[in-house]
Amino acid sequence: MLRIGMLTSGGDCQALNAAMRGVVKCLDASGTEMEIYGFLNGYKGLINSNFKMLTPRDFSGLLTRGGTILGSSRVPFKTIHEPDENGKDKVASMKQTYYKLQLDVLVVLGGNGSQKTANLLREEGLNIISLPKTIDNDLWGTDMTFGFQSAVDVATNAIDCIHTTADSHGRVFIVEVMGHKVGWLTLNAGIAGGADIILIPEIPYDIDKVIEAIEKRAKNGSRFTILAVAEGAKSKEDAKLSKKEYKKKLSNYPFPSVSYEIADQIQKKTGREVRVTVPGHMQRGGVPDPYDRVFASRVGVEAGQLILKKEYGYMIAYKNREMVKVPLKDVAGKLKELPKDASIIKEAKMLGICFGD
Ligand code: F6P
Repeated sequence: MLRIGMLTSGGDCQALNAAMRGVVKCLDASGTEMEIYGFLNGYKGLINSNFKMLTPRDFSGLLTRGGTILGSSRVPFKTIHEPDENGKDKVASMKQTYYKLQLDVLVVLGGNGSQKTANLLREEGLNIISLPKTIDNDLWGTDMTFGFQSAVDVATNAIDCIHTTADSHGRVFIVEVMGHKVGWLTLNAGIAGGADIILIPEIPYDIDKVIEAIEKRAKNGSRFTILAVAEGAKSKEDAKLSKKEYKKKLSNYPFPSVSYEIADQIQKKTGREVRVTVPGHMQRGGVPDPYDRVFASRVGVEAGQLILKKEYGYMIAYKNREMVKVPLKDVAGKLKELPKDASIIKEAKMLGICFGD
């Protein structure tokens, strides 16, 4: 009898359910007898021994369902060694739950912070397999994460919708795309949606260059300009600030986000009408797209295979068009940023897209 624990941690995304379904279907198809412990609300469920027992039948019909049937929450890694709201030692409590339930393996579906905790639990002696989840696609060690493509679809659709209204009114529009630290989502949605200017955290922008690009378009007869701006886009000046100085700036920040600051600067310097649209959490919602359904299913099956072979301590990854396993210790704590010299950026520039640099 295999005793398997599962949890979904951090910001949710599309295809979490599809990935869990993949794991269970693979194990079930192999004839493995299982007890499945679904921990509720991420690591909190493991800390508080809050779980529901599931059977393979519970995973039917989940391929197309967004969100997560287990619920999710953020338990930041930087606070992992601090007591939780009930004074519990988080790490000790998670280990206790694992051993009390005599689990053979814990499957963690998570992004960057969750992978760090997964690795810590591995170091503490637990059998862990993790799956690469996040709309940000910023997990080190994998070319792709599930949730990303579906979020690209949503953000692209937002830019598509803005195109027609921007054209009607002859306005400058900013669409703010999720991603505080990396620009994969903004870049892909920006190119797909035909944005004229793309601003991402990896390439600090010069507001004068942005304005130059807007004016150039106007001069060439375009009635509107669309900017795809990542939540974490930074000006050249802000990029020079230390973490502490930047935090200080944000504590007195008069804008809801960087897009509004950029809008204000464009409006003041050019007199043009600027509007900001923030699709926000819509980018994490709705049904997974076909790519994510396939990718998450494959990731789930690969995890099932590792469990059958009792190979633990890995994250399933996608490298050079192959599904592979990467040691969790190599993944934890690393961020996959967009390389500044990535060919996709060069190609975008050749399409005439301005990055504000
Ligand atoms: O990590 C995924 C993500 O959606 C980021 O793109 C975004 O910045 C953040 O989570 C939003 O977090 P929350 O749901 O906690 O507001």
